[in-house]
Amino acid sequence: MSRTKGDSIVGKKPAVGAGEKGKRILCIGAGYVGGPTMAMIARKCADYTVTVVDVDAARIRAWQSDKLPIYEPGLDELVSVCRDRNLFFSEDVAGNIEQADIIFVSVNTPTKKSGHGAGRAPDLQYWEKTAREILSNAKTDKIVIEKSTLPVRTAGAMARILHSGESSVRFEVLSNPEFLAEGTAVSDLELPDRVLIGGRETDSGRHAVAELVKIYRHWVPEERILTTSVWSSELSKLAANAFLAQRVSSINSLSAVCEATGADIQEVAKAIGMDTRIGGKFLNAGIGFGGSCFKKDILHLVYLCESCGLPEAADYWRQVTEINEYQQRRFVAGILSAMFNTVAGKRVAILGFAFKPDTGDTRESPAIGICKRLLEEGADLVVSDPQALENAERDLSEWEGKVIFEKDPYKAASGSHALVVLTGWKAYEGLDFARIYDSMVRPSFVFDGPGKLNHRELHEVGFNVYPIGKTPLTRS
Ligand SMILES: NC(=O)c1ccc[n+]([C@@H]2O[C@H](COP(=O)([O-])OP(=O)(O)OC[C@H]3O[C@@H](n4cnc5c(N)ncnc54)[C@H](O)[C@@H]3O)[C@@H](O)[C@H]2O)c1
Repeated sequence: MSRTKGDSIVGKKPAVGAGEKGKRILCIGAGYVGGPTMAMIARKCADYTVTVVDVDAARIRAWQSDKLPIYEPGLDELVSVCRDRNLFFSEDVAGNIEQADIIFVSVNTPTKKSGHGAGRAPDLQYWEKTAREILSNAKTDKIVIEKSTLPVRTAGAMARILHSGESSVRFEVLSNPEFLAEGTAVSDLELPDRVLIGGRETDSGRHAVAELVKIYRHWVPEERILTTSVWSSELSKLAANAFLAQRVSSINSLSAVCEATGADIQEVAKAIGMDTRIGGKFLNAGIGFGGSCFKKDILHLVYLCESCGLPEAADYWRQVTEINEYQQRRFVAGILSAMFNTVAGKRVAILGFAFKPDTGDTRESPAIGICKRLLEEGADLVVSDPQALENAERDLSEWEGKVIFEKDPYKAASGSHALVVLTGWKAYEGLDFARIYDSMVRPSFVFDGPGKLNHRELHEVGFNVYPIGKTPLTRS
């Protein structure tokens, strides 16, 4: 690292083509993070040219079309304002690296499926391939920014790869983890709680941090931009997700206690959440967390603790994922027990498959495991979701013939023995449940995973109602 110490990246050897629209920003990885994040930067920084590249040509074509590859409220409008103005999508990774001054790396960092650390360690092959691509195509100095969530000290490894060749090109690596949540990505990007930037305490490091701060200062107030060491920044992202997931597992573990004792989890959550030291967010009991990040980031934290020789810390965080799986097993066991210990041959309507409302993303959605368990028990499923049916079809492809995919919840419910609500879509709260009840087989059941429905009304309509963490409302 001594080769970059004290050197300024900023202002040296401007990249080819830079100038007509200020500096050139490149983002490698056009996924759930890369696409929306770069669209927001382009929207707020008309003086920069922003290009997003990906090896997935179909994804790039979708970003260039009217049907974006991801569903996110407000994203269509955001992209349409700046696309082809100062926001571009391209398959040309090498050519765009050469042109860029500032490169965000937003590639996927899944958990390893095999080999050393399988099931816990991050799979860094996409990230390392990107680092090598930057090295072989860069002809001018660059600031390289980790946007992907990465283990602590990855920026150091990135810098070593980038400086491993013969070239005199200099790179400064920053950590700038993304805290957006799917479903609210656009508003999270527009009004972030904080922007975290980790950089080295050298002249070159400070200059690079200042360059990135300059970008965010186009719309983020100064007091919300937090600069730290690179390692603190990397660890803070893992820690933030671990804390959020831990709250979900904590309340879910208490939901089991509520069911066993007759206490009501919503009353308990309200009572503890009103303590200002605790706060009320992330205290909704349900079927557990999903999404591409929580489980993976906790497991990566577990692996980090193990690698640092901290088995007690590793066990502590591992338990958060174990409670998450326990909650899903418990939910299915509750369905079976209520439905006379068998769902074989029964039509069951699944309302919601996305891992949370307002997204079509089904990665690590609890719905996948719950549906598979019900199918293994012999149920005939009708899966409904406003945005996630394409992904659901892919996730359940091995069960072809046993699952019907139906967007309309009324059609999905018709002829079913049970409604199993797995995603808290707002639209489900406004359904005409009397109409639905009339179309179902008796006795009719509702299992409300997210706990958002009006249980008393459902009971009055005629349903046997099974919320999580509450006494069921049954009919004789
Ligand atoms: N999804 C979220 O809500 C979220 C939030 C915060 C942070 N993150 C983190 O951000 C990172 C990206 O997440 P995501 O959800 O956007 O992933 P994603 O899978 O949606 O997108 C990653 C993209 O990178 C592309 N890619 C992989 N290797 C490449 C290469 N060598 N060159 C060019 N493109 C390449 C893939 O084709 C893919 O389109 C992950 O580390 C994740 O943990 C995600």
